[in-house]
Amino acid sequence: MAEVIVALDQPTAREALALVDRLPGLRWAKVGATVFVREGPGIVGALRDRGVEVFLDLKWHDIPSQVAGASAAAAALDIRLATVHALGGLDMMRAAKEAAGTLRVVAVTVLTSHGPDELGRIFGREAGPAREAIRLAGVVRDAGLDGVVTSPLEAAAARAALGPDAWIVVPGIRAAGAAAHDQRRTAGARDAVAAGATHLVVGRPISGASDPRAVYERLCEEAA
Ligand code: C5P
Repeated sequence: MAEVIVALDQPTAREALALVDRLPGLRWAKVGATVFVREGPGIVGALRDRGVEVFLDLKWHDIPSQVAGASAAAAALDIRLATVHALGGLDMMRAAKEAAGTLRVVAVTVLTSHGPDELGRIFGREAGPAREAIRLAGVVRDAGLDGVVTSPLEAAAARAALGPDAWIVVPGIRAAGAAAHDQRRTAGARDAVAAGATHLVVGRPISGASDPRAVYERLCEEAA
């Protein structure tokens, strides 16, 4: 069973909350950089007022002291989950976790928008996204974080690397034949859950639907 987290990637709080208000019973929402940079922590408060759990996905990747500061500030916002990039390194991840208190912190291994060509270009060598994601899951485990954000295609290997208690947060959820947008490594909700996902992050398949509530409810059923 996994939670469905609706990604609020709209540019304004007004538009993000309009989507939330079309999703009665929404349990979890993701606040990312687009709306947070524009609106600030007020968007988190508005979601908490509606009883929605908040995943603050700002994917920190900076020197350890800066990430610790961000993590401590996030922990004061009454959110449940925050993200760092595993590529920020072991010390940075440890600093994030230590400053977070009871807030869970998970690390992005390899962005689901990265394919082998892009990854090879930025790493300066041949690099398979799946292999790198699985390798980085081991570093995340060594840092003592609560889990990873990873594509559905690497979720099973991440579960094996991190053990039964880890949170495996999976974006790139697409029904067979649906538009992938800028995602490269996708799968359906059922397959992601079968692979060990604990949380599915879904944006455009819900926000772009003519009936977002129907899509959200179907995904919740598939994730149950
Ligand atoms: O619209 P879509 O379903 O592709 O949205 C996926 C969400 O998951 C976005 O909000 C994106 O920021 C997030 N995400 C991702 N890949 C990661 C980490 C987070 O797509 N590695």
